[in-house]
Amino acid sequence: MNTVLIGLQWGDEGKGKIVDILSSGVDYIVRYQGGNNAGHTVVVEDKEFVFHLIPSGILHKGKICVIANGVVIDPESLIFELEYLKKNGISIDNKLKISQLCHVIMPYHRILDKLRESKRAHKIGTTGRGIGPCYSDKISRCGIRVIDLLNPKVFKEKLKDNIKEKSEIFQKVYNHSGFDFDEIYSKYLDYGKKMSKFVSNTPLLLQEAVRKNKSILFEGAQGTFLDIDFGTYPFVTSSNVTAGGVCNGTGVAPTAIDKVIGVIKAYTTRVGQGPFPTEFHDELAAFIRKKGKEFGATTGRPRRCGWFDAVIAKYAVSLSGVGELAVTKLDVLDDLKEISICTGYKYKGKIFHEFPHDFEVLDNICPVYKTFKGWNKDTSKVRKFSDLPKNAVDYLSRLEDLISAKITILSVGSKRAETIFC
Ligand code: IMP
Repeated sequence: MNTVLIGLQWGDEGKGKIVDILSSGVDYIVRYQGGNNAGHTVVVEDKEFVFHLIPSGILHKGKICVIANGVVIDPESLIFELEYLKKNGISIDNKLKISQLCHVIMPYHRILDKLRESKRAHKIGTTGRGIGPCYSDKISRCGIRVIDLLNPKVFKEKLKDNIKEKSEIFQKVYNHSGFDFDEIYSKYLDYGKKMSKFVSNTPLLLQEAVRKNKSILFEGAQGTFLDIDFGTYPFVTSSNVTAGGVCNGTGVAPTAIDKVIGVIKAYTTRVGQGPFPTEFHDELAAFIRKKGKEFGATTGRPRRCGWFDAVIAKYAVSLSGVGELAVTKLDVLDDLKEISICTGYKYKGKIFHEFPHDFEVLDNICPVYKTFKGWNKDTSKVRKFSDLPKNAVDYLSRLEDLISAKITILSVGSKRAETIFC
């Protein structure tokens, strides 16, 4: 069984925990897009692990974790994460495979990300990790791939071209001093050596796994509305987050995918700028942010918080063919007297239920809410669906109906045990 797991909102849905849980039943766990802009948190016996690049399944013994070709790799960040795992006694040898075809985030990508952001009239609020500029170079056909770092001659040629072009642009456009070839060349060759034992032909590896009927879990990073095509462009990340991204990002054919699970928070959050129709007023946002620990796992930025938006969730379900839902953080809503779900948007007197891509419309819509009575009970100790308070069940049933997908996993806390299988 090959399963894709993706976020249905703006990221931070709690994918790390769900991947960790599902990992015990699969052979391979594969990241297919994004980079170290992601921050996947997994809590094991009171110890919190945060992964940015390495698949969250790495904590399980006997699994192969793959960073596939659709991912962009900052070697510095990867090596830091490898050392972090080693320090924590987690073995990675023979478990981690890195695609030769992954594009490498270079120092000029990180700097350009920050320079561009500082000059933008409408800031995106990027993580500053160089993700956008690295994917831009990939598409412009001047990127440097992991395989290049392993071949000093090829790397030298490619880096020379890049440094020449980039130094000129950076000096003329951004008044930046430019880049030193020798320093970057030797540093990244050294990174290549450190990564080399993990580097592999991952499309072949995964196609072989499919042939042998091994089970694969594809771990999405970010969320549907940060997708470069379907998200709230330009306030998005630079990769295809939705299930369609799996095939190009791994070399596994669409026919090999059996199931798509969507991870969704019982409310909504977003980091960075861009439209957010159901955003709370300050007081409620502060309450939920505190209770739900809504601060970015990568940048530490406070997350914006709001009501569950069924309009975006329904669109996300259909974009990726989601059949099952993992709903997270239900317990964060435990103390609220009333809880709302956005069921439609009102614009110029008309109510509609489809997600609009026109910013003019998005900025001026008024969410239409269905409001439920809260349950005012601690759900974090509940382990069976039938033990949930009736109002919580009503809320979840309505949510399922509105977005046409079935809840199979319900998370009521960050620990593995704080999970209900429905
Ligand atoms: P970038 O991916 O660093 O270019 O950032 C683009 C947008 O995506 C910004 O609004 C970021 O806050 C957001 N973003 C990127 N990665 C994540 C994530 O893992 N969770 C939530 N938001 C993210």
